[in-house]
Amino acid sequence: MTALTDPMQAKVRMQSLAAGVTARYPSRERPLAHPPAGSDLAPVMGDYGFPLIGHLLSSIVEPLDFARRRYARFGPVSWAGGVGFRIVSLMGPEALETAWINKDKAFSSTRGWAPVIGPFFHRGIMLLDFDEHRDHRRIMQQAFTRSALDGYLALMRPGIRRTIANWPAAPRFPFYSSVKQLLLDQAAEVFVGTTLGPEADELAADFHATVHGGQAMIRADVPGGTWARGLRARERLERYFAAQIPARRAGCGTDLFSMLCHSRGEHGERFSDTDIVNHMIFLLMAAHDTSAIAISMLVYELGRNTEWQDRLRDEALHNANDELTLADLDGGYPLLDAAFDEILRMYAPAGTLFRQALTDTEVAGHFIPRKSQVAINVYASMRLADWWPDPDRFDPGRFLGGADVRPVHRYAFAPFGGGVHKCLGQQFADMNVKAVMHQLLRHFDWHVPAGYRPMMTWGTGPTPADGLPITLRRRGSEHRRSGT
Ligand code: HEM
Repeated sequence: MTALTDPMQAKVRMQSLAAGVTARYPSRERPLAHPPAGSDLAPVMGDYGFPLIGHLLSSIVEPLDFARRRYARFGPVSWAGGVGFRIVSLMGPEALETAWINKDKAFSSTRGWAPVIGPFFHRGIMLLDFDEHRDHRRIMQQAFTRSALDGYLALMRPGIRRTIANWPAAPRFPFYSSVKQLLLDQAAEVFVGTTLGPEADELAADFHATVHGGQAMIRADVPGGTWARGLRARERLERYFAAQIPARRAGCGTDLFSMLCHSRGEHGERFSDTDIVNHMIFLLMAAHDTSAIAISMLVYELGRNTEWQDRLRDEALHNANDELTLADLDGGYPLLDAAFDEILRMYAPAGTLFRQALTDTEVAGHFIPRKSQVAINVYASMRLADWWPDPDRFDPGRFLGGADVRPVHRYAFAPFGGGVHKCLGQQFADMNVKAVMHQLLRHFDWHVPAGYRPMMTWGTGPTPADGLPITLRRRGSEHRRSGT
């Protein structure tokens, strides 16, 4: 465990204690608003919770139990207090589908995300709405074509290989911290197109401060505070990217930054310099924490379920190449695909998504008044026993051909969201996870102590707070199979 994670663990312990206190506060259940007379809609029921902070701490400290208790009590639509807001929570595939498909354009992403991460990621594509969002997405899609991904994989492979080859065999190897560092180094090379060194370190520090700004408890520009540090870091990132745009536009790099500079819409439209800066800062965030959570929780579950680890290793060793290509990924890793899906189901890395109702609307027969802040609970939805038998058990078999896992609902499994804002980086994430796991499975084996459960906190989704120590062992020549 690294010293870096100790303050985080102390914070999580404090939050747990405080959550225990606030959860006991007697708070009266009431309707969020009364449905219009004559409508057959039901009111959204819930309670505010502790004065001012509402149920915020319980929803961070025990997000799954909290959400499942509310689902059992109120059903798929309920409300709870959270730092001055009343937040409507949606759970279960039907409610999620209504918000994602957004048939009547009742839900705004801009307004939903603004109070959560707006100052740090404003005008990132996920924070745009409707026609403007569609126009930006058409241009951005050009940076996620198969040939673009091929270019990113070529940039990504050497760093992954080099870093993992240098990981030491250790009884308590801090996996989450290490994979985060690997992905930060990779972001410098693949996203920004810079070489590793002091510049990349400064970039990583500013990126880290920007992401953490959005997770600050005291959400005001108080000098020295997390929020203020995030804002200053964002300003430095803006200057850093803006200064490089002319050279990127003129060059022919294959990194994501260069691709955004060159991307064109159907009629030749391109991003302005300001758009590129905003999208770059957002993309770094969208890719980084989500991928770090996915890889870490996969490694954790494979460390507990070593028979699955062995099966995945056999699959990885079956490929004669130590370096993955995009062609290898096309159906060549059915077990890893199934295990990755199961991790996304269990630990949705983008766990809660936000919207705001622009008009009075309805979800699953409930009346949602205009201006309601809405949280789409992806994480807990994929852990509901109504849709997933034995939902807390790691079982990649659910996703293997032949198993009886046909989704009972199209949005029962939706870790990448749905509708027009569905993740643009799904294939990128898939490629990245496989490139890391391919190296790890071939060159190491690992386990976690029986009964070990990582201390978790909440970032973009459920996130290890203890660095995720694993016992990592290099596979010696005696373990190697022929041809590897
Ligand atoms: C396991 C990894 C990932 C997961 C689970 C994930 C999940 C999601 C989800 C649920 C959304 C929808 C947000 C909403 O509806 O408000 C989203 C949006 C987005 N993601 Fe990902 N993501 C992952 C990795 C990535 C990566 C690697 C990239 C880029 C390289 C990326 C780029 C984006 C973008 C650009 C959007 C916004 C799309 C839009 O608004 O049109 N994501 N992601």
